[in-house]
Amino acid sequence: MRSIIITGGAGFIGSHVVRLFVNKYPEYRIINLDKLTYAGNLENLKDVEDKPNYRFVRMDICDFDAFLRLMQEEHVDGIIHLAAESHVDRSIKDPFTFAQTNVMGTLSLLQAARIYWESLPEKYEGKRFYHISTDEVYGALEMTHPEGIEPPFTTTASSESHHLAYGDTFFTEDLKYQPHSPYSAAKASSDHFVRAFHDTYGMPTIVTNCSNNYGPYQFPEKLIPLFINNIRHRKPLPVYGKGENVRDWLYVEDHARAIDLIFHQGRVAETYNIGGFNEWKNIDIIRVLIRTVDRILGRKEDEDMDLITYVTDRAGHDLRYAIDSRKLQRELGWEPSLQFEEGIEKTVRWYLDHQQWMDRITSGEYERYYEDMYKGR
Ligand code: NAD
Ligand code: DAU
Repeated sequence: MRSIIITGGAGFIGSHVVRLFVNKYPEYRIINLDKLTYAGNLENLKDVEDKPNYRFVRMDICDFDAFLRLMQEEHVDGIIHLAAESHVDRSIKDPFTFAQTNVMGTLSLLQAARIYWESLPEKYEGKRFYHISTDEVYGALEMTHPEGIEPPFTTTASSESHHLAYGDTFFTEDLKYQPHSPYSAAKASSDHFVRAFHDTYGMPTIVTNCSNNYGPYQFPEKLIPLFINNIRHRKPLPVYGKGENVRDWLYVEDHARAIDLIFHQGRVAETYNIGGFNEWKNIDIIRVLIRTVDRILGRKEDEDMDLITYVTDRAGHDLRYAIDSRKLQRELGWEPSLQFEEGIEKTVRWYLDHQQWMDRITSGEYERYYEDMYKGR
C-alpha cells in the first residue's frame, strides 16, 4: 500500500494524473490536494470520486501546518506536485500570486515533507517528491528556420503531414534557466528549491519539464479550449502578435503516462524533459482548429477563418519552445502515443460534446474577468 498526495489534482493535467493513478493502482491511496482556485474543478473527476482508494482534501499548499498534519495522518510516502498558478497572462497582471503559490507553496510542501520523512525510522527510504515543471524555465529558442525544416528527431507521434522544426536548437536538460515571464520565473525558482532539498537534505526528488499540453478538461483561458469555444460561438479569436510563435504540443494523457513512468522508475535527483516533438506556429494550429470545428459542425469549409483577429502581443512573448525528450525515451522508453491530428480531433470533439462543462466555467465572474482582460487590445 502506498499513500500518495497529488497536488493540483482538480486542475487540467492533475485531473488526468489522478484518474490514471486511481484506476491503475487500486492498491494505492490517492489523495487529491487542491485549493480549488478558479482553475480547480471537481467536475473533472466525477468518474473517480466514489472510488475507495480516492480522497479529496481542499487545502492551500501554502498551509504548512495543515499539510504536515495530512502527511502524518495519511502516512504519505509519495508526493506528485502539480498545484500552481499556470497561466502566463495572469502572471503578467498579478505576479505576487505566482510567487506565493508556485514558490512559497512548493517550499512549504518540501519543508513539511522533510520534517515528516526525517521523523520516520526509515527516513527517506521509499519516499519520493516529484515536482512537475514547465519548459518555459529555459526561456525562448531562436527561430532560425521560419518556414520550417525537416526535424532532426522523429517519434511515432510525429505527423506525416506536418513535422517541422523551426530552429536548430532544442531544450535539453542541461540548458541554463532563462525564464522571462513572472510565471516561468516562479516555476524556475520552485525547481531550484526542489533540487536544493535533494542536495542539502538528501530528499529523493525528481523534476520534469514539459511542453504545452492539450486535451480534455483544460481551463478555457488557454489557447486551444478558448479558441474551440469561440469558434463554436463565432466569437473573435484573439491572436497575439502575428501568430508566428511556436509551441511544442503534447496530448495530456501522454504527459500523465510519462508522470506515472517517471514517478515509479525515474532516477532520483534527475531532470527529464517531456515533449511531443510536435512544433506548431500558433496561426497554423488556429487554422486547424477552425477547419476541424467547422467540419464537425457541418459548416462550410473555412467559413470561420475571418474570426481570426490579430491583437496586441503578449508582453515578453517567448518566440519558440521545442523540447528534446530523448533522455526520457532512452532511459525509460517513453514516447508520445498520439499523432497530433488524432489528438486534435479527439480534443475538439470532447469540447463540442461537453458544452455544459464549458458553459458553467465561462459564465458569471469568469466571463467578466475576460472582458477586462481584452479591453484595449
Ligand atoms: P491548472 O491551472 O489547470 O491547474 C492548477 C491546479 O492547482 C488547480 O486545480 C488549482 O485549484 C490548484 N491550485 C492552484 N493554487 C493552489 C494552491 N495554492 N494550493 C492548492 N492548489 C492550488 O494547471 P495545469 O495546466 O494543469 O498545470 C499543472 C502543473 O503542470 C503546473 O505546475 C504547471 O506549471 C505544469 N505544466 C503545465 C503545462 C501545460 O501545458 N498546461 C505544461 C508543463 C507544465
Ligand atoms: O510550455 C508549457 C506551458 O504551456 C505551461 O507551463 C503553461 O502552464 C501553459 O499555460 C502553456 O503556456 P503558453 O503561454 O504557451 O500557453 P497559452 O495557451 O496561454 O498560449 C499558447 C500560445 O498561444 C502562446 O504563444 C500565446 C498564444 N495565445 C494564447 C492565448 C490564450 C494567443 O495568441 N491568443 C490567446 O488568446
